Amino acid sequence: MSTRTIDAELQNESLGALIQEQIAMKIDDLIATLPNPEQLTPEQRRGIIARYTAVLEGNFIYWMTATLLAVQSEEARPILLDNLHEEISESHPVMLRKFTMAAHAFPREIDVLAVHEEMTKIRLFLGKLQGVQSLVTMAFFEGFIQKFMSYLANLAAAQGSTEMEYTDVHGVCDIAHSQGLFRAVSLENSINPISPDADLFEGVDLLSNVIHTIIVGPAAKLAA
Ligand SMILES: [Fe+2]
Repeated sequence: MSTRTIDAELQNESLGALIQEQIAMKIDDLIATLPNPEQLTPEQRRGIIARYTAVLEGNFIYWMTATLLAVQSEEARPILLDNLHEEISESHPVMLRKFTMAAHAFPREIDVLAVHEEMTKIRLFLGKLQGVQSLVTMAFFEGFIQKFMSYLANLAAAQGSTEMEYTDVHGVCDIAHSQGLFRAVSLENSINPISPDADLFEGVDLLSNVIHTIIVGPAAKLAA
């Protein structure tokens, strides 16, 4: 390996580490905004579960597939394919539906429409098929979900549910998997680099907006 290649490798490694650090901070900021489930009304708790389901059930596999279509590096693909394989063979959407129905929080029109605007922006963003930005977005989301699961489980428990397979499965911190996604970001950037004027966190910020709406709901959003 030439010195130049090693330099490029090191640059990419540190890019991955830098992104990982920034994403961890963004996740912590979002988690810090979560209201105490005990201080929410049953309707507010129902709304958070319902909006989360409206966003995730039909879209997570779509988002991961869009990212798979966007990446050019051969090393990034198996990481995304593994994830898709697990989602589909274990049918995570079925798990989520069971979780939501047991908590009597199946999404209504108001819940789906509350996240409509932000969801559309995410779809259009992923449709641009930008490898690095899409991977960064999915890495952010994976990290967020792991930290959010115990909160979601608490909301469902406060609604009287004991069906926790979905939150149990997704609350496990899969370090190898998260590291894999950040490594994929570095690898992708080395062959399909992000342009200097592009916003690396474009998708992360759009997804943060979706999550914010899941948490605060339509009424608080209108008041803001
Ligand atoms: Fe899943």
